[in-house]
Parts: sequence; C-alpha cells; structure tokens
Amino acid sequence: MDGVTVIDHPLVQHKLTLMRRKETSTASFRRLLREISTLLCYEVTRDLDLTTMVIDTPMEQMESPILEGKKMVFASILRAGNGLLEGMLDLVPAARVAHIGMYRDHDTLEPVEYYFKAPEDLENRLIIVVDPMLATANSATAALQRLKDRGARNIRFLCLLATPEGIRRFRDAHPDIPIFTASIDRELNEKGYIMPGLGDAGDRMYGTK
Ligand code: URA
Repeated sequence: MDGVTVIDHPLVQHKLTLMRRKETSTASFRRLLREISTLLCYEVTRDLDLTTMVIDTPMEQMESPILEGKKMVFASILRAGNGLLEGMLDLVPAARVAHIGMYRDHDTLEPVEYYFKAPEDLENRLIIVVDPMLATANSATAALQRLKDRGARNIRFLCLLATPEGIRRFRDAHPDIPIFTASIDRELNEKGYIMPGLGDAGDRMYGTK
C-alpha cells in the first residue's frame, strides 16, 4: 500500500502475536509493548540523515557520524500512545515529547481533544506521532492536523495495528505523512474495534475495563 511500511521484522511479529493473545497479562502486555516499541523506533528512524563530528577516541582523532538536525519529537496520542513512547525514549533519550489528549466518543466514534502540549519549534523537527491502534483514524487525523497547525511539516506516524479503512482515511486526509505499522489487520467491526486486533490497547496496558 502506498505510503505504508509494514515492519515485518521477526521479533516484532513474534512479540505482536504474544500481545494479541487474550491470556497475556497486563504486566506482560506492557513489557512486550515497551520491547516492541524499541524495535519499531529502530525501523521508523532507519533513514535519518547523519552528519559527522570530530572526536577523540582513546587511540586517535576521527570524524564520526551523528544525527543531523534538531532533536526529534515523539508525539503521543493519549492514553495508549504512552505505551509506545517509553520504549522509544529508551532508544532516543534526548527526544522531545508532545502529548495530545484525544478520546473517542463511544457513540459517534469522533475524537474529542482534551489536552495538547508540544515543544516549540515544530517546523524544524522530525515529529514521530505514536498511537498503537490506527482504527477509524479519526483521532490520528485530528492530532496530525493540530500538529500541522502548530507548524509541523516533517511528520511520520507509527502504530502497532492498522486497518485498510483507517489507512485509506488517514491517507486521504494526510497524503504527505508516511505510516509505519507492524500489521494491517482485516477490518474494523461495527463498534470501531480492529479485527482480529488485540482488544482495547489502553485497557490491556493499564488493566482497566
Ligand atoms: N482502539 C483500541 O484500543 N483497539 C481497537 O481495536 C481500536 C481502537
């Protein structure tokens, strides 16, 4: 699918299967999500530009590669996005973090924003927006529009599961933003859940119902 990268690394796929299982406990789900998010982060950042700096090793001076540009921003769509955030920050501890609070109205399935806090200077940074489930894509498209309104230009979207419908709606609204996902599942059900999916990611992560 155009603009969509499915991260098919064997470790990602293995961990995703464990996460999907209904027997998986909250503690295991959270640990697996943290582990899988470091692998997803590795893939979503694999083509970042490098520059070099001159350093001294204990042996001699050398010109050595480092990331180019300003610190990137990880933007978490609350609350489930935070589950991906932690593993990503393990890998890129200097990243800045934005939080976008969106909840899905259970009747209309429309997103309602209740919180927005992001670093200054979004126009000059790579923003990686994270939300484990790209279901209807309503929250994601609204969150991305907020970031664009604040100047963000260079954005990638990272999730764990997506649906064909969600991807279509996302790409219609934001054709410039690439999607990275560990799986494209079969469909959305009538209640807006991903099938076969893994259930409610926030509930599974936090042990709520
Ligand atoms: N959000 C979830 O947590 N799970 C779904 O299946 C869809 C949206």
